[in-house]
Amino acid sequence: MAPFIEAVIDRAALPSGGAILDVACGTGFLTRRAGEVAGAGARVAGLDVNAGMLARARASQASAPGVRFEWHEASVLDMPFGDGEFDAVLSQQGVQFFPSLERAAAEMHRVLRPGGRVVATFWSDLSEQTFFRVQNESLDRVIGQNMGEAFALDPEQARACFAQAGFRDIELRPSATKKPAAKRPTTRAGR
Ligand SMILES: C[S@@+](CC[C@H](N)C(=O)[O-])C[C@H]1O[C@@H](n2cnc3c(N)ncnc32)[C@H](O)[C@@H]1O
Repeated sequence: MAPFIEAVIDRAALPSGGAILDVACGTGFLTRRAGEVAGAGARVAGLDVNAGMLARARASQASAPGVRFEWHEASVLDMPFGDGEFDAVLSQQGVQFFPSLERAAAEMHRVLRPGGRVVATFWSDLSEQTFFRVQNESLDRVIGQNMGEAFALDPEQARACFAQAGFRDIELRPSATKKPAAKRPTTRAGR
């Protein structure tokens, strides 16, 4: 996921020492990276409904001196923050799982200061990606379960939810990892 984290960080243009919220933070690896980038004086909050994920997040150390990290067990649909508290809201691979993206987008809009920015990522349709399509078909065949929900959010539906919440200048941008360079054969010789 590292390339996708950097894509989020690039798009977010995080203000130094600002207040940043990572929604559906999971184990917090985007949260920690946001803290490293925002630097000393920043307030960086991670929020997730899953206590186990948050326990892992709390136990992980970030190399971000002077950053105040906080972790909140709550739903994005009803966040424990005041209006306009954050300069930026991030969410990596969370929006497609929210029970109501309309309500989630409204909450993100509420906690963001005027002029603040949201950057959220979600997978595109399985028909557009070979790796996850094959993995998903195998899971379905072997254990009778699949991860289809992770790939089911229509980008235009996402756009409509954010627009309805009051966001402006909404941009949908496909992002892909670069193909790894072809492996060079390694030769070992001994004598
Ligand atoms: C695929 S994980 C992504 C976690 C993390 N952002 C990452 O990139 O590793 C999706 C996360 O969304 C969280 N989630 C699902 N519904 C949520 C909700 N209503 N409010 C907050 N978090 C939610 C789950 O608990 C889970 O940690």
